[in-house]
Amino acid sequence: MQSILKFSLIARYSAFALCILGALLVPLIPMDRTLSFALTLAFAALSVLGVFDLLQRRHAITRNYPVIGHMRFLVESVRPELRQYLFESDSDRLPFSRAERSLVYQRAKNEADQRPFGTLLDAYAHGYEFIGHSKRPAPLQDPETFRITIGNEQCKRPYSGSVLNISAMSFGALSGQAILALNRGAKLGGFAQDTGEGSISPYHRQYGGDLVWQIASGYFGCRNADGTFSAEKFASQAADDQVKMIEIKLSQGAKPGHGGILPANKVSPEIAATRGIPVGRECVSPAAHSAFSTPTEMMLFVARLRELSGGKPVGFKLAIGQPWEFMAIVKAMLKTGIVPDFIVVDGAEGGTGAAPVELTDHVGTPMPWAPTGSTRRAASCSPSAASSRRAATPTNARPALPPRTPCASARWSCRTRPSVSPTTTATRCMRWPNCWRRPAWSTRRA
Ligand SMILES: Cc1cc2nc3c(=O)[nH]c(=O)nc-3n(C[C@H](O)[C@H](O)[C@H](O)COP(=O)(O)O)c2cc1C
Repeated sequence: MQSILKFSLIARYSAFALCILGALLVPLIPMDRTLSFALTLAFAALSVLGVFDLLQRRHAITRNYPVIGHMRFLVESVRPELRQYLFESDSDRLPFSRAERSLVYQRAKNEADQRPFGTLLDAYAHGYEFIGHSKRPAPLQDPETFRITIGNEQCKRPYSGSVLNISAMSFGALSGQAILALNRGAKLGGFAQDTGEGSISPYHRQYGGDLVWQIASGYFGCRNADGTFSAEKFASQAADDQVKMIEIKLSQGAKPGHGGILPANKVSPEIAATRGIPVGRECVSPAAHSAFSTPTEMMLFVARLRELSGGKPVGFKLAIGQPWEFMAIVKAMLKTGIVPDFIVVDGAEGGTGAAPVELTDHVGTPMPWAPTGSTRRAASCSPSAASSRRAATPTNARPALPPRTPCASARWSCRTRPSVSPTTTATRCMRWPNCWRRPAWSTRRA
């Protein structure tokens, strides 16, 4: 026992002891004077560091392992670079693989993006995703036509939206420069930028790209002093022609059920003016809306916003938690006859400006499991569809699929249908309509 203790003490203090010895002995060794001075100075500095390590109480690691303990912090500081450049595989994806990112860079720079030989992916791996092609390739389409009209019969000013748009990211989470760049991109590409819950800043307006104004529980840009919804402020801002649609945010995938706090020191005059809140005071987004508390009230709020905005499309964004709560919203559509113009479904994989890690990692339904057809883009709904009990179904919905059957992989909510060969079934990936997931071997039919 004593020898173990002795060994551990030697291991802990050996580096520190060597530094002290070096500082004392180096001046005695005959060598070049400058080198001797430099070495003595280095050893002396490390010895002082060791004394400091022993006295401090903040880091247990350096208190227990003076001097040498700093190696851990040093290596940790270069860990991301080491992983990224040396150890990470080309197909590790969080959120994008190195291969995907390189391809985007190549294409952005108009460099060659073609590759000889074939795929480097393991096409036989479980979870490999692929798209089933048609024997009759479709003629090339004009990208200008990649648009969808959003706005049902209850909406006076439908919006012809691009099928790809910029997700909600608020001013505050993003810098003014980032908002400017995104909005300029939206203007050039003819798509829309979602403002996020931080309301419309001057940076959103400079280039005039289309905007989807998000209204979250803080009602930023349209709130009274007590944080409740202000119809007058909403109407005056929504009248702006740049605002094409209104999105009520119920929740987002990265932090469902959580509001948010913008700390006082982040509430700059610019952010305060944009959000309509006092400068330098902590700004709280409550977890729930105060303008409605039931699905029926929410539908009435949808109708009210539509009216106040002069008939612009109004929809809502949510991350799925309990599917029956979503069904309650559908029921409210049927009961009131009020149908939102679009629904944005966010998955638990979604990003955020800031959120508690527990919520980000473990709360909310990821996209493959989220019901409602798992569409992340805005999709039109119509009241007539409501009467046929499909109020929340996008008008561009896929044809009916066979009924769900249990999938071998419990991780995937999937439908199966005979495909590929009579002996296998392919499972449909809920994320992409035409994407099929290679079955686990256990799904092979006998
Ligand atoms: C920096 C940042 C800020 C965000 N801010 C908001 C926000 O204000 N409101 C919101 O509904 N979602 C917000 N999100 C979530 C995104 O809108 C989106 O739902 C999520 O990133 C997943 O969609 P994506 O795959 O298009 O990124 C934010 C995400 C990021 C990365």
